[in-house]
Amino acid sequence: MTEKELKELLHSMSLQEKLGEMTQMAPNFFGTSDSVDLTGPMKAMNLKPEDVAYLGSTLNAFGAEKLIAMQKEHMERQPHHIPLIFMADVIHGLKTIYPVPLAMGCSFDTGLMEESAAMAARESAATGIHLTFSPMADLVRDPRWGRVTESPGEDPLLNARMTAATVKGYQGDDISAPDRIASCFKHFGGYGASEGGRDYNTVDVSDGVLREYYLTAYKAAVDAGAAMAMTSFNTIDRVPATGNKKMFRKILREEWGFDGVAITDFDAVGELIPHGLAADGKDAAEYALKAGADIEMMSTNYLNHARELIEEGKVDLSLIDEAVWRILLLKNKLGLFENPFKGADPEKEKALHLCPEHLALARKAGSKCVVLLKNEENLLPLKKGVKVGLAGPFADSTSVLGGWAFADSSDRATLKSGLLEDGVEISAMAMTEELGSMQHGIMDVSDQTAELDALADCDVVIAAVGEHPDDTGESASKTILRLSHNQEKMLEKLHDMGKKVIAIVFSGRPLELRPVVPFCDAVVQAWFLGVEAGPAIADVLTGTVNPSARLSMSFPQTVGQIPVYYNHMNTGRPLEGPYHRFVSGYLDCPNEPLYPFGYGLSYSDYRYSGFTVRTVKNAEDGTLAEVSVDVENVSDVPGRETVQLYIRDVAASVVRPVKELKDFVQIDLGAHEKKTVVFKVTREMLSFWNNEAVVFEHGDFDLMAGHSSEEVLKERVAL
Ligand code: NOJ
Repeated sequence: MTEKELKELLHSMSLQEKLGEMTQMAPNFFGTSDSVDLTGPMKAMNLKPEDVAYLGSTLNAFGAEKLIAMQKEHMERQPHHIPLIFMADVIHGLKTIYPVPLAMGCSFDTGLMEESAAMAARESAATGIHLTFSPMADLVRDPRWGRVTESPGEDPLLNARMTAATVKGYQGDDISAPDRIASCFKHFGGYGASEGGRDYNTVDVSDGVLREYYLTAYKAAVDAGAAMAMTSFNTIDRVPATGNKKMFRKILREEWGFDGVAITDFDAVGELIPHGLAADGKDAAEYALKAGADIEMMSTNYLNHARELIEEGKVDLSLIDEAVWRILLLKNKLGLFENPFKGADPEKEKALHLCPEHLALARKAGSKCVVLLKNEENLLPLKKGVKVGLAGPFADSTSVLGGWAFADSSDRATLKSGLLEDGVEISAMAMTEELGSMQHGIMDVSDQTAELDALADCDVVIAAVGEHPDDTGESASKTILRLSHNQEKMLEKLHDMGKKVIAIVFSGRPLELRPVVPFCDAVVQAWFLGVEAGPAIADVLTGTVNPSARLSMSFPQTVGQIPVYYNHMNTGRPLEGPYHRFVSGYLDCPNEPLYPFGYGLSYSDYRYSGFTVRTVKNAEDGTLAEVSVDVENVSDVPGRETVQLYIRDVAASVVRPVKELKDFVQIDLGAHEKKTVVFKVTREMLSFWNNEAVVFEHGDFDLMAGHSSEEVLKERVAL
């Protein structure tokens, strides 16, 4: 449609039709025109049949045939034949489920991220979906929060790059293309800072911390052209995000120039009442409309109250027109006025879902996300001829997809089947009863450690441990991050039996592994890797793939340390060396995490040398210095190394973090190969928010390059 036609359409719509466009409902609210079932939740929402006919979008409806039929029926009923947008939570794949986002963060591989998102877009488009509620760009520091699994991790730069890559992967250059979908980034903003890691809880961070850490990845989504933004459930500076004018009107739209659609999270307008911002639904609608939330998800405050608000002069009709205009523009960009079914195609859907190409990518992605945390005496990769035993609740479990998986797992996904496929002979198995979930009140099973005697003849035991996937994701906050008692006992007993123990940890968050690491000779963080989890992990264990992933989130020593993250401030009494009184530390625990951000081992050994800094004068691109470092693979095993650049601004008008990741590159190094990596350090990288503006201040900077946030070479220079 031309802009003129679109404007005419807007002006010919009734107010009720406009409010329908601004309301999103789940598919169970859509009935045929004469058989709309006005009972149950619909009745409670005061939804009338004509309201249903006017709705503008729906969430989490799947299936090409079904969506084609729904669209046809809806367009017949809608007075102007305006098509629906089918939106869904495609978070890490639709049917071909690839690793959870936190695991993808650990790959540090933006190309892989983009490819996986493109794959998810292809499958989704064929099923009739037009838009996904992804990526979640929330920066996370608190593993008690179940939703850390949906985020790329704790670092603003890594999050921003992963977020941008995800948006590009879904959208490509043109969201009207039949194999592309639009992207909605979420949850704006700062949801990852929920107090105590408790979901939906208050967020109270300073403006500086919000801007420098938490907002960075959302901004990257905007710059990458994301079509939509979703509000978050939390308050920010005491105002819930869904009614927060500063966040949506000022920062998102005015400062960042976002011109896409803003949608609320699920019933978040209604939640303005228990938050204590709005007195009732009408008040809530007024706040959300004024803040600029264009679509209300799964509640009907706009439908039920906007007319009255306009008649009373509390809300200007122009606010409604502005919102509907943005929604119509999105429908037009998606090409829905020309082809309301877009990519929906039952044949294509069948051909694409779980097709070999997508499965191969999921397997490759999985192996790139596995983080090797410990590997004593090069126990891994598995050596030929050793007798391997397999134990633990994830040994043969299909519960390895992670949250937000609208797909079935298969026997192929299990660790056992992956090992068998890769030719590993399993001599015996024990303690494989599946782990219950905390959510369902059965965290542990009965003591089965006596079963371990079945492994007496094995040299090496692969112990597949972790948390149930239902214990991660939305509304899955925990205060205890240890493995279940039974699993801890299993690892200890295997160690006492004199076995070489390889722990494979399945989890959606960093767990507290300190109590069990001493019992393990090798520890592999396997996350939830999706439909090809088993083969992907087996590829790493057998050495078919050399692990290259790095932690995108610090692993705490103990829950009491949380939040523990690498890019913290220094304090006036920093702890250097062992703890003593009156410095900033703990009596009973180091300040450092168990495993820091950027950490991860490989079957290769890398040596860093030749670190030099060269200052650059008057470069047009703002380069102030070049950091050069030689990286040598001193082993016989070819590998991929992620070389990381960190900076520290030694003194500034607001204090700066002890380290900030500013760039990273991945290099492939053959056996005994050496490469030189050169990083540019630009003025922009050294600039910061001084509580009024982004500024650069001359002075001393520590420039650092290395293998992880803790292993770096450094030099101080005046810039
Ligand atoms: C609530 C979640 O917070 C959000 O991430 C999701 O997209 C919506 N529900 C829709 O399912």
